[in-house]
Amino acid sequence: TSLKAYNTFGIEASAKLFVEINSTNELLYLLGSDEFKENETLILGGGSNVLLTQNFDGLVLKNNIKGIELIEETEDEVLIRVGSGEVWHAFVLYCVDKNYGGIENLSLIPGTVGAAPMQNIGAYGVEIKDVFMDLEAIDRKTKEIKKFDKNACAFGYRESVFKNIYKNQYFITHVTFRLQKNPKLHLEYGAIKDTLKELEVTDPSINDVSKAVIKIRQSKLPDPAEIGNSGSFFKNPIISKNDFDSLKAEYPQIPSYPIDKTTVKVPAGWLIEQAGWKGKTIGEIGVHKNQALVLVNYGNGKGADIQALSKDIQASILEKYGINLHAEVNII
Ligand code: EPU
Repeated sequence: TSLKAYNTFGIEASAKLFVEINSTNELLYLLGSDEFKENETLILGGGSNVLLTQNFDGLVLKNNIKGIELIEETEDEVLIRVGSGEVWHAFVLYCVDKNYGGIENLSLIPGTVGAAPMQNIGAYGVEIKDVFMDLEAIDRKTKEIKKFDKNACAFGYRESVFKNIYKNQYFITHVTFRLQKNPKLHLEYGAIKDTLKELEVTDPSINDVSKAVIKIRQSKLPDPAEIGNSGSFFKNPIISKNDFDSLKAEYPQIPSYPIDKTTVKVPAGWLIEQAGWKGKTIGEIGVHKNQALVLVNYGNGKGADIQALSKDIQASILEKYGINLHAEVNII
């Protein structure tokens, strides 16, 4: 089976075996099968956070578990349980339409609901952990259904237990969110306020914030339907305050976000742009012209070439600034 339509980088790679999972029962059945026991497996949600560098000689599970269910409602809050195969942005629009606040800043992030907690997706001052209630996941070996509350997920910056200690151990089937009927809107970050002004909004609603975020993202991030990409390829590096101070002495313009007393986050996009990579094209692949943190496939690029480009960028950033960039994308 070709995986080209199942990864937002639009990389041509094939899977030996491919199966779509539509329900928890289908998943449990599959986990008992010989195909599952005898093969390496890869779970794909929206395919928006993977770089396929070769054909996959195993079983791909495409998550297609659907359903949006209101499970509790009070005067100010709702709890909504969502199938992990729902498209993230479609779920955001559903909530915006119902006036449930909390995830409007996370509009237009590619991927599925199940992938969102794995890497604690975030944008414009909000992370999924801020609205997360719990999730249900199935242990791939024991077939047990386990609930994870917020603590058990150990969310960090683009991190959770599902990316490290429990890597490849669980299949997330449902996620429950706690959303607000009278939310406090998050407008502090980046260009949101300016964009609302441009849209001539003075008293913003949840819908207005969602529209503003969509406008900002469309202006700098390539649409995967047109140019293959996986959003930010690298995480923004977190460095010590001391290292930052020496960099600042050499590069007074360097932007930063304080994390705590001793550490600082630096935008990788700035480092990559300053190192001369922004807009660089090498054959079929390159670095996006509006956002240097995004690597792109213009058509028939190969995953291995994008991986090689990412290594060249890492080497150049290490040489110029002494900073190690880590991939945000899963390289398969
Ligand atoms: N910058 C540049 N040149 C560039 C890109 C960025 O100089 O080419 C500098 C600018 O100073 C800008 C700053 O970097 O002010 C921050 O840029 P931006 O607001 O675009 O955000 P980012 O730090 O590059 C992060 C997330 C994005 C998220 C945005 C907005 C990571 C790895 N990425 O990017 O998430 O949308 O903030 O909140 O944390 C993703 O994870 O796939 C993703 C797109």
